[in-house]
Amino acid sequence: MCGIVGYYGHQNPKNVIMSGLKALEYRGYDSAGVAIFDKGGVKRVRAEGKLEKLEGQLKNVNFTGHTGIGHTRWATHGIPSERNAHPHTVDGVSLVHNGIIENYVEIKNELLKSGAKIQSDTDSELVAHLIARSLKKTKSLLKSVFAVLPKLKGAFSIVVISEEYPDEIVAFKNGPPLLLGVGKGENIIASDLQAIVPYTKNILYIEDNEVIHVDGKEYALYSHKGKKIKRKVEKIQWNQEKAEKQGYPHFMLKEIYEQPRTVAQALQPYVDLEKMQLKMESLSPKYEDILSKVNRIVVVACGTSYYSGMVGEYLIEKLAKIPVEIELASEFRYRQPIISKSTLYLFISQSGETADTIAAMKLVKEHGAPTMALCNVRLSTLDRSVDLKMYMNCDSEIGVASTKAFTSSLILLNVFATYLGYLKQELNQKEYVEQIRRIVDFPSLIDKVLAYNSFFKSTAEQLKKFKGFLYIGRGVSYPIALEGALKLKELAYMHAEGYSAGEMKHGPIALIDKKMAIVVVAPEDDVFEKTLSNLEEACARGGQVIAIGTEQNEKMKKLALHYLSLPQAHWSLNPILAVVPLQLMAYHVSDSLGYDVDQPRNLAKSVTVE
Ligand code: G6P
Repeated sequence: MCGIVGYYGHQNPKNVIMSGLKALEYRGYDSAGVAIFDKGGVKRVRAEGKLEKLEGQLKNVNFTGHTGIGHTRWATHGIPSERNAHPHTVDGVSLVHNGIIENYVEIKNELLKSGAKIQSDTDSELVAHLIARSLKKTKSLLKSVFAVLPKLKGAFSIVVISEEYPDEIVAFKNGPPLLLGVGKGENIIASDLQAIVPYTKNILYIEDNEVIHVDGKEYALYSHKGKKIKRKVEKIQWNQEKAEKQGYPHFMLKEIYEQPRTVAQALQPYVDLEKMQLKMESLSPKYEDILSKVNRIVVVACGTSYYSGMVGEYLIEKLAKIPVEIELASEFRYRQPIISKSTLYLFISQSGETADTIAAMKLVKEHGAPTMALCNVRLSTLDRSVDLKMYMNCDSEIGVASTKAFTSSLILLNVFATYLGYLKQELNQKEYVEQIRRIVDFPSLIDKVLAYNSFFKSTAEQLKKFKGFLYIGRGVSYPIALEGALKLKELAYMHAEGYSAGEMKHGPIALIDKKMAIVVVAPEDDVFEKTLSNLEEACARGGQVIAIGTEQNEKMKKLALHYLSLPQAHWSLNPILAVVPLQLMAYHVSDSLGYDVDQPRNLAKSVTVE
């Protein structure tokens, strides 16, 4: 997490750095700061809280220099506060950092022993100390970074400036992303493209264990051992969308409402409507060759993307009869997974930058197995690394809690499962065309469930009084129960548990009383009756039911305090309909509690630390 920016150029560095930080604020928003050259020295301004606090403090501050760095923080070591905010400055060396220095305790002890005055609780400041000390000997910012790197363990990126070298910036990447934008007479280093593209579309991708040295208008790329590297600057295509709420009070509500369009938009490149066929050529020129050899699929993801992978497991196994396993990226890579070349590894990630997902993908690649990504952000690390790719194509998702990226993933997983079903001859021509038709006709059904906005707006006051929420579902609705509970937790900070309806009697049923809300996701499908029995068990213990079912299901209606009906849809598409009311519910409960829906506490949109 954390967003980092460095700038040298003819423009006002404060403006470029602040606009970059705004584009990166979704990476963390507990504090922010800048350090920019001014009258022969470096002036540093930092503030606890969101970026607007820093903006306010910088309003009447001017800088005379050409160079500076900035940071927006998601705390790892040390509470969110001004003294822990970046940049950290030690003897004229200022540094911003993203990631974790794993051996920081040893480094700190050594520094303390040798008399260093440590000002913050961060691991980042320690690196500034080491570089400042080294600089006294090497008299070169670049050499001092090279000298310090072997002492640091972990996945991290840094950007450093020194008062003695007003035109220089040195950056190192190992893990969290870092890119260089090469403009006319200006260089900009940042965590993500979004911070760079307003200034230049000429991008140099910095890989792991590489150092970039900006010296005025020039720059040079090195390996961490100091060997010069030649790499072509790529001219990228990028349509910068304006992040606007378009009249909605929050980005999240806007993004929920966008779903009928974004689901249709996600589908569009993969369907040939005239021939009623799926078009998969854009996955890779070798897609048929790779996919026809696959006899197992492992889906790897985190957070909401993990839950879309769980839905994918049901879809692919039922439609294509290919065995699927779903793995949490953070677990996958630490348990020495058996990686097979006949298995396709499918990574799902909105950002394409989630540290654990990227690390899992790298591990799979080392073993030479085929990789595929389902991601939203084009040219992200994941997108640039895999063999096959599908795009969520849902435009920028700004709200930290994922909504439209989730439903785009679900429709793409439907497309992919249908394609595999046909390829593996599990679906005949008629079934294949029928499924394509269902998928194509589906997006407008989402409009109907958006009508629950006003229902949740009016019931939020009542819902927030429950002591807790148990979300249950079976089959393809089980991951939706998990996603519904996650949404309420992340936005409303309330106790919410997602559970398989059939497992409820093995524990969670003990939680049920009149103060517990049971949110049941049970559209009519082949496990509906089973879920209904589980619901009866919950009702018998006093649980208050909010039920989501198909049309006017009288059996469910009888049991429910609130009944929400979904339009009739195929089982494979029900998850997309069922999740929308749960998104709206979490949104309104959070809003009625007065919380910041778009930027919930302690979270970040792109999690680039382990
Ligand atoms: C964070 C976000 C979630 C997201 C998860 C995975 O936790 O707050 O909304 O689902 O990361 O992100 P990814 O970009 O890999 O889908």
